[in-house]
Amino acid sequence: MEFANKLIAWYQANARELPWRMTKDPYKIWVSEIILQQTRVVQGMDYYLRFIERFPDVVALADASEDEVLKLWQGLGYYSRARNMREAAKRVAEKFGGVFPTEYSDVRALKGVGDYTAAAICSFAYDLPYPAVDGNAYRVLSRVFCVDELIDSPQGKRAFTELSQEVMDRKRPALYNQAMMDLGATICLPTAPNCEACPLREMCALSGSAEAVEYPKKGKKLVSRDRYFVYLAVEDGEYTYLRRREGKDIWKGLYEYPMVELPRPLTEMGDEDWLAPLAADFTDLRLIGQPVMKKHILTHQNIHAAFFRAEGHFLHRGGSDFIELKRSQLGEFAVSRLMEKYLSE
Ligand code: ADE
Repeated sequence: MEFANKLIAWYQANARELPWRMTKDPYKIWVSEIILQQTRVVQGMDYYLRFIERFPDVVALADASEDEVLKLWQGLGYYSRARNMREAAKRVAEKFGGVFPTEYSDVRALKGVGDYTAAAICSFAYDLPYPAVDGNAYRVLSRVFCVDELIDSPQGKRAFTELSQEVMDRKRPALYNQAMMDLGATICLPTAPNCEACPLREMCALSGSAEAVEYPKKGKKLVSRDRYFVYLAVEDGEYTYLRRREGKDIWKGLYEYPMVELPRPLTEMGDEDWLAPLAADFTDLRLIGQPVMKKHILTHQNIHAAFFRAEGHFLHRGGSDFIELKRSQLGEFAVSRLMEKYLSE
C-alpha cells in the first residue's frame, strides 16, 4: 500500500490538467484513450477537443459517416483506430441503446479496446478496480520492483498484471492509474529517469542506478520495417511490362511489374495517390477487379504487396524504363520470390 499511497500523494500535488480528466463520461474517456494509444498528449489534445465537439456522445459518432470520422482523424495516423471506434459506437447504439456499457467485459469486447483501454475506461469512469497496464506502468513497476520478466512474453504480461493487481489501490483505481501514467510520462522516463524528483525513490530497487534504463526488459525482437508496394500487371493484348530494380534497395537487378512504394497501407491511400506515376506510360488504363494481396517477410522488412491487374495501351514514350515483353516470356526474367509467388498463381 505504501507504493500506491506515495504514488497517489505525488499525483495529487503534481497532476497534469488534461481535458479528459475533468469528466467521468465513459464515452469521452474512451475517445481520449483511443487517441492517446499511438499519439502523444500534446498532439492528441486538439484532436480530442475537436472530436468531442463534433461528436459529443456515442450516438453522434454512431450516426456519422466513416468519411467524416476519418476526415476529423486526418493527420493522426493509424486510421483503423477511427474506423474501429465508429463501428464500436454503432454497436453501443444498437446493443446498449446508445448507453456506454458499464461492465468491464462489455467494454473490453468493443472493437479496438484491449486490456489496457478497458481498464482505463472502467477505472476512470466507474472507479472499477482494474489496473491499466501500459508502457508507463511496465516501466515504473519493472524499476521499482526490479522485475526481470520480459514484457513482450505472455508470462511477462501475466506477471505484470498480477503485480499490478497486488500493488494498486483498489479503493482509488482512477487516481492510481492516472498517477502511474503521469509518473511514467514525466519522471520515470524511458532513457532519462529523473530519480531525484521521484516520490518512490526510497523504495525503488533501481533508483539512481545506471541499470534503470534497461528496464523493462524486452526479448530481443528483430525490429522489422513495414513497407507497402503496389504492383500493376498491365496487359496489352499478349504483351506485358516489367522494370528492372536499380539502386541500393532490395532486389537490385531483379525484374518486376511496374510498382510504386506507398508510405502507408493501400487501404489508407486514395487511388490517385499511387496510380498516376504508373499510368503515365499507358493510355486507356483500366484496373481489373480487386488486387491480390501478398505479405512477404524479409530479414528486416515486412513487404505488404498489392498486385493489380490492368488493361491498357503502352505509349512507347522515350525515357520509359518499362520493358515490353510477351506474357509467355515472363519466365525468362529473374524475379523476386514475391513476384514469383504472384506469377505462379
Ligand atoms: N496516455 C494514455 N492515457 C492517458 C491519460 N488518461 N492521461 C494522460 N496520458 C495518457
